[in-house]
Amino acid sequence: MSAKFLYESWYVIAWKEEIPDIGIFSRKVLGIPILIYKNSSKEYVALEDRCCHRLAPLSLGKLEKDGIRCGYHGLKFDDAGKCTDIPWGSDSKDNLSVRKFPIIERNRWVYVWMGKEENVDESLLPDNFSCDHPEWKYKPGYLKQPVPFGLLVDNLLDFSHLSYVHSATFGGTTKIAQTLPEIEEIPNGLRIRRFMSNSSSSGYYERAFGLTGRMDREITYDFILPSILIMSSKAFSATKDQQNKSLLLNLHGCQALTPETNETTHYFFQESHHIDFGNNDTADLIYDEIIKAFKEDMRIIEGQNLNIEQDATPKMRMLSVDIAAVKFQRLLNSRLPNS
Ligand code: FES
Ligand SMILES: [Fe+2]
Repeated sequence: MSAKFLYESWYVIAWKEEIPDIGIFSRKVLGIPILIYKNSSKEYVALEDRCCHRLAPLSLGKLEKDGIRCGYHGLKFDDAGKCTDIPWGSDSKDNLSVRKFPIIERNRWVYVWMGKEENVDESLLPDNFSCDHPEWKYKPGYLKQPVPFGLLVDNLLDFSHLSYVHSATFGGTTKIAQTLPEIEEIPNGLRIRRFMSNSSSSGYYERAFGLTGRMDREITYDFILPSILIMSSKAFSATKDQQNKSLLLNLHGCQALTPETNETTHYFFQESHHIDFGNNDTADLIYDEIIKAFKEDMRIIEGQNLNIEQDATPKMRMLSVDIAAVKFQRLLNSRLPNS
């Protein structure tokens, strides 16, 4: 399956703690190898990880005090990606450079801008506040998923699957699939809300929080371009008296999908618990539940991907539950060049 990527956008490339203070980090985004290091002023530098001479990964070279030297034939590049030294000296450096990417850290997510530098727009960064907030605790997660990012986007835009794929973890009730969500268009994305009154708990809530019995469950998330989910999940005491219901659980999750290639996807995730709910073990318990649930997702999505790869003829049939996925695809298409 080949994808059209939105280039004029920020993509999460790493958790802040993945990038060493001294040393080189590298990861591929939208099929382009990128390296990151911190320069002598401790600022992030992101360059194409492909030397312009013979395309060797620059990340296999060495950092020097004012740039990086290729480990193959020794060309040196500064923080702007311009060639500043050629060991044999007889060639001109003027037209030799590697691409430099705008890079920014916001609430422990490190983003690269994959479009033209003149189009950089910090107002497009999502509000992933719970990734760096004293009242919210979590354990950061990263997985590389062996499926195209579009299938993961569709998965996150339709939580009816929680009732079936995640019946033993996130779901716990068929009410989620039976409740069509409210969908609102917001700048650069969609807001999706499901409210399940008098619902049963989930395996996740029981094991991580000891929450059992009936409760009202509310899941609201923003899904914004290029593919970032910011979610509030709450549980309330089940009561008809909406004024006096009490909050039983308050979670905030941030997830970012970044295409590595057409076929593989970086998945950055966390689900934070508010410090009023949980204890020192809670972040680990939540993390373990997420990993369990993501395995449940991948069992289905890898099977789906195989079916698609083996025969692209059968078409998908869109149903009411796919409205958010269709709307989001339409939004994405409208932002792609030549749309
Ligand atoms: S490939 Fe980098 S110097 Fe030759
Ligand atoms: Fe899922």
